[in-house]
Amino acid sequence: MNDKTKKLQHIAIIMDGNGRWAKKRGLPRSAGHKKGAETLKEIVRAAGDMGIKYLTLYAFSTENWQRDPEEVKGLMGLLREYLKSELKEIQENGVKIIFIGERNMLAPDIVEQMYKIEKDTSGNDKMTLCIALSYGSRQEIITTVQKISLLAKKGDISVNDIDIKMFSDMLYTKDMPDPDLLIRTSGEQRLSNYLLWQLAYSEFFFSPTLWPDFSKEELSTIIENFNSRERRYGKN
Ligand code: IPE
Ligand code: IPE
Ligand code: MG
Repeated sequence: MNDKTKKLQHIAIIMDGNGRWAKKRGLPRSAGHKKGAETLKEIVRAAGDMGIKYLTLYAFSTENWQRDPEEVKGLMGLLREYLKSELKEIQENGVKIIFIGERNMLAPDIVEQMYKIEKDTSGNDKMTLCIALSYGSRQEIITTVQKISLLAKKGDISVNDIDIKMFSDMLYTKDMPDPDLLIRTSGEQRLSNYLLWQLAYSEFFFSPTLWPDFSKEELSTIIENFNSRERRYGKN
């Protein structure tokens, strides 16, 4: 298999538009997040059924901490619920779960639950579900630069040893291939500090659908579109 025909292994999604979905219905933003969590479950199941090996979902960015405290509180409550209930089902379906992001920003009980889920699902191999939580790509890159600098300072590596592979292997995403496809819902066309390094050669797809309305049918259509694209990686 050459690069151009390599099949779709890893999809990254920016799940955006919960707030607008709620606003359109005259509901509080929290109702949008609640419906968005339902969509998330449907899409995780569908991706597994479609044979996708890695799914990385942007659930909460480092910048999202700046939102109204009530909204942040609501989102953390939803997360607690999700970690307790739904992830059990996911685990039973053979899904391995990992989290990327800055854990020290999250409440200790949530962090504890995250470690437990990672441990409990570490032997699963049907699909890897990676949840980006309190995640920011620039922070991830800086953390990696700090780790590498420390190794160089201690003399464990020389500056010439630093290459793309070493760098990739020190990111939060070290155990996954780069995403083949990035999907962002809600019509916004920006990365909002998501996987800046990892998306270097990914195909982008921007959907106008608000995340709570996103469906497995739309996911299939996007995958068909992806399959018709030619990936060139700078070659002719
Ligand atoms: C995405 O929906 C969910 C999170 C960022 C947590 P938003 O809450 O950003 O919804 P919009 O963009 O305001 O519609
Ligand atoms: C990106 O969406 C983060 C998540 C979907 C979790 P935002 O809604 O926070 O991004 P901006 O503010 O529109 O760029
Ligand atoms: Mg948004």
